[in-house]
Amino acid sequence: MKRPTRDFPVEKLTEKEATAELKVLEGEIAEHDRAYYRDDAPRITDAEYDALRQRNEAIEAHFPELVRPDSPSQRVGTAPAAGFEKVSHARPMLSLGNAFDDEDVREFVARVRRFLGLAEDEGVEVVAEPKIDGLSVSLSYEDGRFVRGATRGDGATGENVTANLKTIQSLPKLVEGGMPRVFDVRGEVYMSKADFADLNQRQEAAGAKIFANPRNAAAGSLRQLDSKITAARPLSFFAYAWGEASDPPAKTHSEFLQKLKRWGFQTNPKARVFTEVEAVIAYHAEIAEERHALDYDVDGMVYKVNRIDWQERLGQVSRAPRWAIAHKFAAEQAETMVERITIQVGRTGALTPVAELRPVTVGGVVVSRATLHNEDEIARKDVREGDTVVVQRAGDVIPQVVSVRKDKPRPSHRPFVFPNTCPICGSQAQRDEGEAVRRCTGGLVCAAQAVERLKHFVSRDAFDIEGLGGKHIETFFADGLIKTPADFFRLKDKTDQIKEREGWGETSVANLIASVDERSTIELDRFIYALGIRQVGQATARLLAKQYGSLEVWRRAMFAAHDPESEAYADLINIDGVGPLVAADLIFFCAEARNADVLDELGRLLSVSDFVAPAAQETPVAGKTVVFTGTLEKMSRGEAKARAEALGAKVAGSVSKKTDFVIVGADAGSKARKAADLGVTVLDEAAWLKMIDAF
Ligand code: IVH
Repeated sequence: MKRPTRDFPVEKLTEKEATAELKVLEGEIAEHDRAYYRDDAPRITDAEYDALRQRNEAIEAHFPELVRPDSPSQRVGTAPAAGFEKVSHARPMLSLGNAFDDEDVREFVARVRRFLGLAEDEGVEVVAEPKIDGLSVSLSYEDGRFVRGATRGDGATGENVTANLKTIQSLPKLVEGGMPRVFDVRGEVYMSKADFADLNQRQEAAGAKIFANPRNAAAGSLRQLDSKITAARPLSFFAYAWGEASDPPAKTHSEFLQKLKRWGFQTNPKARVFTEVEAVIAYHAEIAEERHALDYDVDGMVYKVNRIDWQERLGQVSRAPRWAIAHKFAAEQAETMVERITIQVGRTGALTPVAELRPVTVGGVVVSRATLHNEDEIARKDVREGDTVVVQRAGDVIPQVVSVRKDKPRPSHRPFVFPNTCPICGSQAQRDEGEAVRRCTGGLVCAAQAVERLKHFVSRDAFDIEGLGGKHIETFFADGLIKTPADFFRLKDKTDQIKEREGWGETSVANLIASVDERSTIELDRFIYALGIRQVGQATARLLAKQYGSLEVWRRAMFAAHDPESEAYADLINIDGVGPLVAADLIFFCAEARNADVLDELGRLLSVSDFVAPAAQETPVAGKTVVFTGTLEKMSRGEAKARAEALGAKVAGSVSKKTDFVIVGADAGSKARKAADLGVTVLDEAAWLKMIDAF
């Protein structure tokens, strides 16, 4: 058979010719994939490679019955990196809770034991490994082939940086030997101290940007749009976790680390398994001593429960796993002078004293401001302008003033006087009884509060509007371009005004409008969080979204809850995690006329999508409200609650007409009786477990 040429019209191919050509194409594409991914040595240009894939696809489009499961079109290819597209993580990338001292570490292990209901004599194995100060990424492998890599982003969605990750030499592009078919390897991209020093030297010689620390250098290098630049920046990678997996890779974390090594990943050589919490604490001290000699920055240790089945039972709370914790190293300190004390006004009106410092390097970063926390702290430490102070910095935490060197000259002879009016709007600054914080009572009249609220509104976990930094918001606000959150969505009518401003050209304005546009559809929980209501953080916003489902229903409920006798109020405080204090802030916020106006406007300008329960599985308790009471035998209350929530149930603290199931353990008291009175279904622990067992 004479083979048709590559430009022979697809529609004129016979089925036999098509089959033959697909086979040849498949072989060729696979060969070029190997050259590119495994050997890092492509033999044809990207355009030639694309032409092969296009031909393959064109034939398949014409002969759909010839598409084979192993066809190149069924695999994700090498998407050219034009900008960063968004990638949603199949399993969210979590962050870690923190242990600040040894006692927190003991409490972590104790909490794990309580949650799992372990017997006294049952040990908990913990893997301790260095916490690498880099950026976390998720690497997706299919059939052992590296197909996609993304930054953490907000944990749910990151940026596709595949092309840049491919430039990391130590990152395997093709894994042989038993990696599950679909598998995400997670870990930290970092730059070694030596590579960092080299890079900065080269940058300096070229008159280019000098990086402040290895972490910034790694981040700046990974987020280059041109991967040729990334290729010239020596990045490294430590693997330490996994995300999506078609099969579980191991039964313990330590076994998983071994596998990673066998698959060709770099894992941290300092990872160790411990059975005694005191040994873990001692190891922390050992690495803290040694860390300056390591060739990469480490900002603490991470402890992980070794058994994977226990990790699964422990699950997560909010965005951090219950089975792991970060234990930071003690903060680095330095001495400098307080030039001035200023007062900052935050989103909720809190007045925070700030020490403006003579710049000093602390742990590799230049610090020129440090928080003094509040009125009492300033008085307790007796910090005055002109004092010599000890400042410290731990990780990403805001630098703090630790103490005053009272043995050094003190130009000011009187303690600092904390203002009782707002330095921005002049309103009374009030301090409620039992509160450490003095707050401006100016509310929306106070420009500082308004600006901070706007910054919060566009911040990463809220509306996440790119290209609008804090400084931009301050100037836009000062000039009246943006007064309320709704104004962000009206910026498109003001592009001429923006373009007149310094630093704003056609492109940056177009980008800004595009990123605002992109956010005009938003999930309900993000929306509620973005409003910046006092005490309503991400976790509470999520609980509210889950409970009420839509913006309308939520608003109506908050309005109705104004009456403390109402059912709406009872429902609100009955949400596990929302007490009367949070409820009061919510009701107050929604009742405020100006807030209501803003909500109305936003409602018109945006589309707020209803809350969708994650993977609303068909479980017998999805969407049901359950109450636990009494002592459970098979698991702790915490685990029972987490399990119920994972199956889509809402867990409430008290029984009402809306309760679907009451699960009674031993010694259940009034709640069981109330359930019986109201005719709510009562289950004992065994019946409950049987009901949810299969899920
Ligand atoms: S485990 C579900 N292990 O720390 C657990 N994280 O504060 C996921 N990090 O976002 C994290 N070294 O960027 C883990 N050995 C290590 C780590 C580590 C550094 C980073 C990671 C994560 C952050 C959490």
